[in-house]
Amino acid sequence: MSLLVVCPEQDVSDWVSALEKADPGLDLQTWPRVRDARAVTAALTWQHPPGELGRFPNLKVIVSMGAGVDHILRDPDLPDVPIVRLVDPSLVQSMTEYVVLAVLNHHRQLDAYRRLQTQRRWKQLPRPRPERLAVGIMGLGQLGAAAAQALYHMGFGVRGWSQTPKSLTGIRAFAGDPELASFLAATSVLVCLLPLTPRTENILCRRTFEQLRRGAYLINVGRGGHLVEADLLEALDAGQLSGACLDVFRTEPLPAEHPFWTHPRILVTPHVSSLTDPVAVAPQVVDTCRRVLRGEPLVNTVGRERGY
Ligand SMILES: NC(=O)c1ccc[n+]([C@@H]2O[C@H](COP(=O)([O-])OP(=O)(O)OC[C@H]3O[C@@H](n4cnc5c(N)ncnc54)[C@H](OP(=O)(O)O)[C@@H]3O)[C@@H](O)[C@H]2O)c1
Repeated sequence: MSLLVVCPEQDVSDWVSALEKADPGLDLQTWPRVRDARAVTAALTWQHPPGELGRFPNLKVIVSMGAGVDHILRDPDLPDVPIVRLVDPSLVQSMTEYVVLAVLNHHRQLDAYRRLQTQRRWKQLPRPRPERLAVGIMGLGQLGAAAAQALYHMGFGVRGWSQTPKSLTGIRAFAGDPELASFLAATSVLVCLLPLTPRTENILCRRTFEQLRRGAYLINVGRGGHLVEADLLEALDAGQLSGACLDVFRTEPLPAEHPFWTHPRILVTPHVSSLTDPVAVAPQVVDTCRRVLRGEPLVNTVGRERGY
């Protein structure tokens, strides 16, 4: 049995050394230098070339290198084997830090103070109370629920939206398409932590922005495909949105000529809100391989039909 690491866009040496350390007996192969295609029973992937995983006749599981699986499910020729994603406290903590930072940056008006600093102006801006700032989190899964709880404990008014109803201390929860409008209506800071699926693609669009409080702030840490970029620019121009913090983009790296780079009210970060740490998650990958070998049930499996 062998684990194949398929990640065309990155150097995988960190993954290989972390996996070897987690299980020195593991038989590892790295794409595209495949030694023995028939031996491959598990594939650890990030943005594999479509159709490529069909080359391995004994493949039993596909493991995502991250929490999201849209990069796997976009392959129309994906073999019919279970898909497992990574769920890890280090991913959760890193995302929580980023979301809290982005909310506080907006709440404490650091961009405005930076502008005042360039003018050498000493001016104290009115400080809104945190409980008056309704932060709405789209997606109350592993990452969204943790960010929601952290913001609640800091005193923010927090509401969340998910597919199925949730009960989380201090969080006003909304579920499904029928409750989306009520969720959006009182939201002043919208955080997207949804998976990218056919139902959530383009969800950050004019129609959504129009339902938020005027001057709302957007934080997108889900996927670039959630956002209709032209609608964001229009909403910023119209004052419907006051600013945006974006970590994910339709095209990554963000092209040099893209208007987001120079927009005065958009903060761009290069998909860093929650990067997978190979050392932290290697034991999870090894555990999945062992489960396959022993015929045991897999954990953190993805529902293909629901897309996450
Ligand atoms: N920027 C980064 O660095 C980075 C890093 C990691 C992950 N991410 C993104 O974050 C996403 C979320 O990760 P996670 O681990 O929190 O995922 P998760 O545990 O699967 O949670 C997904 C949440 O979204 C909700 N949801 C899905 N489809 C929905 C719909 N149509 N309407 C309403 N709610 C819907 C789910 O509702 P239910 O609970 O009812 O199922 C769930 O609460 C990932 O898929 C990935 O795209 C980004």
